[in-house]
Amino acid sequence: MIDMSRLGVDFAGVHFKNPIIPASGTFGYGREYEEFFDLSLLGGISVKGTTGSRRNGNLPPRIAETPSGMLNSVGLQNPGIDHFIGEELPYLKTKNTVVIANIAGSNEDEYRTVAEKLDSTDVDMIEVNISCPNVKAGGAAFGVSCDGAARITRVVRKATSKPVMMKLSPNVTDITEIAKACESEGADAVSLINTLLGMRIDIRTKRPILHNNVGGLSGPAVFPVALRMVWQTANAVKIPVCGMGGVSSWEDAVEMMMAGAVLVQVGAALFSDPNCPVKIVEGLSEYCRNQGLSSVTELTGSVKVW
Ligand SMILES: Cc1cc2nc3c(=O)[nH]c(=O)nc-3n(C[C@H](O)[C@H](O)[C@H](O)COP(=O)(O)O)c2cc1C
Repeated sequence: MIDMSRLGVDFAGVHFKNPIIPASGTFGYGREYEEFFDLSLLGGISVKGTTGSRRNGNLPPRIAETPSGMLNSVGLQNPGIDHFIGEELPYLKTKNTVVIANIAGSNEDEYRTVAEKLDSTDVDMIEVNISCPNVKAGGAAFGVSCDGAARITRVVRKATSKPVMMKLSPNVTDITEIAKACESEGADAVSLINTLLGMRIDIRTKRPILHNNVGGLSGPAVFPVALRMVWQTANAVKIPVCGMGGVSSWEDAVEMMMAGAVLVQVGAALFSDPNCPVKIVEGLSEYCRNQGLSSVTELTGSVKVW
């Protein structure tokens, strides 16, 4: 039994029983993880990125191991929004946890259509991926300029009254400018970071290991970069920040919160330990008790900068 009494968090008008959420694309729709733990122990679930219609993703190989991390070029493989709403959402809504739909599109119309369809469902929040480095059209193309980020935020904001969280790309010169552009168009929150663009080459074949040539780096290797970006962003915007990138332990989650995150997502770490989100919730609870905190929210932004 995990003591959740200190772990409740309000974020963009939604109550989370604790701040720990499996990150989009690393948890599917939760079904495969149910054999490891009770999904109701999670603060929420961010589901696999969903587009207007079914996508097969990129050709394999699309995963490569890297020092303390991994590269992926899955490319938004998903069964499409109608399948999500008809088959996955009803299942997820029985799990007593916050359900975050993660959406993506090739153009403004696709983002609009998907957001409009979700508006009439009981999904709790929409995370808008403007930062996928693995698709040719759309995705990161919007998230790497203030204008693109603002345009997609505007389109989604108009299409839904659900809380909107814009997911930011680290592949930019100044992530705070992108966050401010989203905030100014009515985003309720931002989440960051998506993966860092990377590459590996097989020296025997001279071919890139990924069929897509490049892919997104995630896992512990990116943690310090993610932490720095969360800290900068939390200091630049008034809307709340959901931090992720390389979190694999409760200590990492505490650091993320100290840097300014209200919620924390866990991605690649799930592939080496499927139980890690629950271990993080447990560790966070213990830490709060040992530190004499009445609420985990006291951690957010508590870093004492030099
Ligand atoms: C295999 C894989 C698939 C992913 N798919 C998505 C996706 O569909 N939508 C999205 O917004 N982010 C996606 N991401 C990015 C993660 O949600 C997260 O932002 C990133 O991996 C950094 O966190 P981590 O280091 O804890 O994995 C994916 C990451 C991985 C490793």
